[in-house]
Amino acid sequence: MTEPVRVGVVGCGIIATRYVADSPAFPSWRPVACADLDGERAEEFGIEHELRVLSVDELIADREVELVLNLTPPKVHADVVRAALDAGKHVYTEKPLAATVAEARDLVALADELEFRLGCAPDTFLSSAYETARALIADGAIGVPIGANATMLVGGPEGWHPNADMFYRAGGGPLLDIAPYYLTAIVSLLGPVVSVAGFAETPTAARTLGAGPRAGETVVVEVPTHAATVLQLRGGALATLTVSFEARNQYASSLVVYGSEGVLELPDANAFGGEVVLRRGGEPAEPVPYEDRGPQEARGLGIEELVTALRAGRPHRAGAGLALHVLEAAEAAVTSAVEQRTITLSTDVPALA
Ligand SMILES: NC(=O)c1ccc[n+]([C@@H]2O[C@H](COP(=O)([O-])OP(=O)(O)OC[C@H]3O[C@@H](n4cnc5c(N)ncnc54)[C@H](O)[C@@H]3O)[C@@H](O)[C@H]2O)c1
Repeated sequence: MTEPVRVGVVGCGIIATRYVADSPAFPSWRPVACADLDGERAEEFGIEHELRVLSVDELIADREVELVLNLTPPKVHADVVRAALDAGKHVYTEKPLAATVAEARDLVALADELEFRLGCAPDTFLSSAYETARALIADGAIGVPIGANATMLVGGPEGWHPNADMFYRAGGGPLLDIAPYYLTAIVSLLGPVVSVAGFAETPTAARTLGAGPRAGETVVVEVPTHAATVLQLRGGALATLTVSFEARNQYASSLVVYGSEGVLELPDANAFGGEVVLRRGGEPAEPVPYEDRGPQEARGLGIEELVTALRAGRPHRAGAGLALHVLEAAEAAVTSAVEQRTITLSTDVPALA
């Protein structure tokens, strides 16, 4: 039997706990070591999850580690990914791929040049629900796709996240933090984005951290926190995306795909599972049955798919090219709003298997 790929976790924060706790569901990889800028945090995490605790440099250089799982804040994603690739590791990183498109482009080029795999969250678009929707659309269940409408409105993470300031700095804001789930889903279902136009606002100029040791600290908001964007897709459909950190105490997530013959209502693109509902013409709405992957409906599915693809010698799906395209669309939404113009994207997506 093939041994699981040995994974070193860099960044032992909130999402690291999820990845490591859910990892036993995935046969192709297993966490073996962890590191954090905050040595005490790494120590605590390593003891809790029975991982070797190393410094960040040691982990990246460690001979046992084959793949670095980067779960650090967005502004340091590029540095960690670059160092890991340079050290001869495959990498899977949390989104966004980098804080800027320029940095992300360099990472994609470096991974190509060094011939190491670079994967990037989200992987929710690989869930059984979204795969079912993708097959339905490809089979013509809603006719010719004409549009999609995605919304994700929440109050912002400062109520529960101890380091929520990162979500209000470069690489953050709802367009870079939560839009990637919806943009990745839209691109996976309907194909690449050609151009982007939008409006964005920052109604709340400062936030107060509400959780953790820094609770009470004020954060000046540097990015838009409410945005409405229109995306022109190469396939001809037009999609709209509304994302917000201004909807206090709310969690409103929806993604609906419209076609010439019907409508597909999809579950939360920021999660796994949920109902796929098909409405054709005047017929009543019907939930579409699908089989799920059980405990593999979890973050980490993207790493599983990457390792499986690596072993099979085919491209992986939660890939850096897709993540770069999604980041370019998200960054274009901000630029479009600031400069009041339509932005044509320069990136494409690799053909999805
Ligand atoms: N929290 C969530 O629900 C969630 C969900 C999906 C994705 N994410 C993404 O996961 C990433 C991490 O988010 P989080 O919520 O776990 O953050 P967090 O603040 O809880 O954890 C980040 C950890 O990274 C460490 N760190 C900072 N700079 C570092 C560096 N240069 N090298 C090594 N370690 C460093 C910090 O000390 C901290 O322990 C972000 O990209 C975020 O967008 C978070």
